Amino acid sequence: MLVVSTEYSQVLAGRIAGALECPLGAVRFTRFPDGEHYLRLERTDPEMVVVGSIPDADALVELLLLVDACEGNEVTLVVPYLGYARQDKKFHEGEPLSARAVCRAISGGVRQVFTVNVHDPSVLSHFRVRAQDISIAGEIGRYLGSRPLENPFILAPDDGASAFAGTVAATCGWDWDHLEKTRISGEEVRMEPRNLDAAGRDVVIVDDIISTGGTLVTAARMLRAQGAGTVSSACVHGVLAEGAYSRLLASGLSEVACSDTIERACSRFSAGQAIADRILGCSS
Ligand code: R5P
Repeated sequence: MLVVSTEYSQVLAGRIAGALECPLGAVRFTRFPDGEHYLRLERTDPEMVVVGSIPDADALVELLLLVDACEGNEVTLVVPYLGYARQDKKFHEGEPLSARAVCRAISGGVRQVFTVNVHDPSVLSHFRVRAQDISIAGEIGRYLGSRPLENPFILAPDDGASAFAGTVAATCGWDWDHLEKTRISGEEVRMEPRNLDAAGRDVVIVDDIISTGGTLVTAARMLRAQGAGTVSSACVHGVLAEGAYSRLLASGLSEVACSDTIERACSRFSAGQAIADRILGCSS
């Protein structure tokens, strides 16, 4: 078995290879003068594990090229962050189902696919091969368990992320809840925990994705006003669009931590072991 990755998932691929106790293959990446991507594998193996998140369109092209370079071998594709997965419905006539387009494109030439905390697991049905999602809620829970938190309280930003927050909290036996949004007027909304009181507690808001951070900025401000101790956040995919990281810290969050599905300086916990365990579980 040989693990290879796009430029976007090199660190995570190294961790997966380490956990699988197999080599990490070198890949040379460059571009043609017109900007087109070029890559070359130094070697291949009959059993290839290709790792590549899709935070943008260049990452998608690299991933397509890397899978194609593995032609003639059995390919397990790991897409730690499946970009475009949030456009999983047609909201207006004439729109693409982007999640479907991406899943179909990357199904070619692979035997099986693994994603990590995909936004909505129903998109996995768009892959043309067997696809499974892996949750790293346990890794987030273990990371938070190592933090100096006082009377911790895990919060989901909405009902949709509630089960995820419950799994994170269960790792440490902590309380959890989800935020409920009440519209007070056309311009004003109030966000507060549905069942529990945040006063005097260190709150951690957990979610699958932090994109612009807009939800978190509003939630953190309101929780502080409700008497919470520290407010921090932990997510799987740190998309951190539009300067989200600095805006979140500036708004008073004590920490923004994410996993290495998108490799960031604030990647504090890894999806590597969970991915390797699932690959091994599926090959035995
Ligand atoms: C939405 O359902 C997702 O789970 C996240 O809550 C969302 O993507 C976060 O977006 P933003 O950071 O832009 O508020």
